[in-house]
Amino acid sequence: MSVSTSTKAITPSDIRARKGGTPVVCLTAYTTPVARLVDQHCDVALVGDSVGMVVHGLPSTVGVTLEMMIMHGEAVRRGLDRALMVVDMPFGSYEESREVAIRNAATIMARTGCAAVKLEGGEVMADTIRFITQRGIPVMAHVGLTPQSVNAFGGYKVQGRGEDAQRVTRDARAVAEAGAFSVVLEKIAEPTARAITAAVDIPTIGIGASVSCDGQILVVDDMLGMFAGFRPKFVKRYAEFGDVAGSAISTYADEVRSRRFPDASHVFADVAPTETAGVNA
Ligand code: KIV
Repeated sequence: MSVSTSTKAITPSDIRARKGGTPVVCLTAYTTPVARLVDQHCDVALVGDSVGMVVHGLPSTVGVTLEMMIMHGEAVRRGLDRALMVVDMPFGSYEESREVAIRNAATIMARTGCAAVKLEGGEVMADTIRFITQRGIPVMAHVGLTPQSVNAFGGYKVQGRGEDAQRVTRDARAVAEAGAFSVVLEKIAEPTARAITAAVDIPTIGIGASVSCDGQILVVDDMLGMFAGFRPKFVKRYAEFGDVAGSAISTYADEVRSRRFPDASHVFADVAPTETAGVNA
């Protein structure tokens, strides 16, 4: 089991320095208990706007609000000692202007205690990334499939195939030159993701990209088999918690209906066995 023994909090500069080194391990987290688990094994805990789909049942990330990101960010903060916490800027909170972007990024950082934000977009967001990084806010960029633009893309299509490789590569170069400390490459054809990783001097974090990326990220509910929504090819299911939970809930329902739960071990006598036995006696 790969439990990290280092207790020093990981910074954006530490991640930046991992270019070409030991792969950066990232997972999303939205709650305190999951953040505690992620903290033991991963380098980065991303409070992703995927929370809208996997926790709140939204059809896409487009409906996620700043308040939702802040609430989940606060919860994740309480579970982290070591992993770098990055919070996604939700749709509509940064595209309008670099001034709006820095105001909202600063609010997210001040209220959640995160050390960095993530925002989607390549060349078009480079000026904003430069502006806010130069003013003290570390940015993780995100290019390729950018789910907040699902309506413009017309679906969750593979990016960077054929001639489209040039566009995606330009995007990755632009955010690296603008000062992002790392860049997520999402659902990009493998050879293109590999070439981008060789071309940029910041760590690439792949999701549906390439094993050559400098790190990997998955949505935690996806890899644990918790999320019953769509199942992209790039998700490896490391567990089937949804099945385990479904069967536990079914057994509970049977036992309640047949009056087998609660049994003697889960109820209380009218007199506590000893005065010091505590609340569980
Ligand atoms: O919102 C999210 O979970 C993400 C990752 C999948 C990269 O952006």
